Amino acid sequence: MTSSHTFAGRHLLGIEQLSPADITTILDLADQYVDVNRRADKHSDVLAGLTQINMFFENSTRTQASFELAGKRLGADVMNMAMQASSIKKGETLIDTALTLNAMHPDILVVRHPHSGAVNLLAEKVNCAVLNAGDGPHEHPTQALLDALTIRRAKGRLHRLNIAICGDIAHSRVARSNLMLLGKMENRIRLIGPPTLMPSQIDQFGVEVYDDMRKGLEGVDVVMMLRLQLERMDGGFIPSAREYYHRFGLDAEKLSYAKDDAIIMHPGPMNRGVEIDGTLADDIHRSVIQEQVEMGVAVRMAVMDLLARNLRTARANETKKETYV
Ligand code: NCD
Repeated sequence: MTSSHTFAGRHLLGIEQLSPADITTILDLADQYVDVNRRADKHSDVLAGLTQINMFFENSTRTQASFELAGKRLGADVMNMAMQASSIKKGETLIDTALTLNAMHPDILVVRHPHSGAVNLLAEKVNCAVLNAGDGPHEHPTQALLDALTIRRAKGRLHRLNIAICGDIAHSRVARSNLMLLGKMENRIRLIGPPTLMPSQIDQFGVEVYDDMRKGLEGVDVVMMLRLQLERMDGGFIPSAREYYHRFGLDAEKLSYAKDDAIIMHPGPMNRGVEIDGTLADDIHRSVIQEQVEMGVAVRMAVMDLLARNLRTARANETKKETYV
């Protein structure tokens, strides 16, 4: 796989650390992997000889499957740690688990953790590339990148678009990473949701905030729906799922306020009839939810390819140094 740009990072911890050029590099390479994934033979040897360990301390269906498939298609040895059944349950700290794994010489660690910042902490303790697969309500960089690729392919560009992010913004790492990425690429972002589900320091983000779906969706190109993150709430944020759907659930009537060619997105898992009407979610003319899943594998292949190149270069330089001393 060829790429004219390089990407300087050792890890992928968040969108915060990426420049617009880094984002474009990743998406351009991911576009090439979309083509590879549509071929009968999807295999390459970009990660041959490297070991990828997936450590998911929080439930995941599509993200874990997507990282596993991405690693296997690139020829890595992929291992999934069953973190629910691991020594964590016996009281081992995150750092001890990390050091134990590090001693097994992995090359890529993919980590999801319920606490913000846990993945950054872990990256300091290990000597391999670390990819953040979601840390609490903080960041979910590969989700924002796959969303960006989906938007770029559907709209033909990734700048100067009107994008609405709707629902539970306060608890969503998907919203946070998307806000940063779409902001860096110079889009106009609107956040729509009940005031109880807006982050407290929302003014800092330079976005427009609405608590009325019809007003907020007026003329937008992209409608991004979010799941209610009930696991991060301790009650009292919404009156009832029915009332929430009535006011903030996306249905055909509310969507009619957006542009005629507006696309509908959702990171999954989605709750039909809570944040989105099921028929709309399945409408292949408007919904790009399945494309998002497809782009997810390609984006993860691109990121792991770029990080593996940096890893190999860093190791080659270390070996050279050792030879000359
Ligand atoms: C998201 C997550 O885990 O943050 N899902 C995902 O990665 N596909 C969103 C969510 O859980 O609602």
